[in-house]
Amino acid sequence: MTDWPDTFDFDTDPVCQKQFKPFIKEELASLRAYDDERPDEKTYIFHQHAARVAKDVKKTCLHMGLSEIIANNMYWATLPHDIGKRLLPVGMWDSEEKPSGVIKKVRRTHTLLGVQIVSELFGDVPHPFKALMVDIMAHHHEQLNGEGTLGLSGDKLSKPVRVAAIVEAYDGYRIWRPHFGERDISPPAVIARMREEKGADIYDLDLLEAFAQMKINEYKTIKNFEEKPK
Ligand SMILES: [Fe+2]
Ligand SMILES: [Fe+2]
Repeated sequence: MTDWPDTFDFDTDPVCQKQFKPFIKEELASLRAYDDERPDEKTYIFHQHAARVAKDVKKTCLHMGLSEIIANNMYWATLPHDIGKRLLPVGMWDSEEKPSGVIKKVRRTHTLLGVQIVSELFGDVPHPFKALMVDIMAHHHEQLNGEGTLGLSGDKLSKPVRVAAIVEAYDGYRIWRPHFGERDISPPAVIARMREEKGADIYDLDLLEAFAQMKINEYKTIKNFEEKPK
């Protein structure tokens, strides 16, 4: 378990720059190639999701008053959180219907498959960035009530994992997929749903509020800008 990462700076740390940065870039390129093999009608594009989630994690950290270094370390550690997806059969993501329990379970193995990729390459590299990246990769589908993918209880979930889990879920709900039907997926509606339906059982409420504030501010700014007469 790791807490806010302040013992290194990804942008100046030699191991991060020489080993982890090229690794993350290569992995995202592979995820992009994997996305290209999926049907054209897909709406939930994994490498784009990764980029959005990492950016929003960074913005949430800054909104909470955490340092630029922590926010940037969190950005890089979140980017590769779903790389394990490319090890699963490409045909298993894009069904018209809501996925069954079994399909969901197999899809969720992407967390530990990602960790496997990291261990194969960096098994012998001890580094706080690796620990952070692996923590987020392994645990971003856990829930505070212990009913997440691996069944880890809430006290085992670090703050980085908790914030990544919130931002990651939000992004998933914001992308329309066939089984969503007519559901309102505007930012305020998704946030309301996360607060009401999912709430404290699943998410860290302090972090959810910090994220929600950041998102709603951003949404209002964009809306004002769009509504301004030209
Ligand atoms: Fe994931
Ligand atoms: Fe994700």
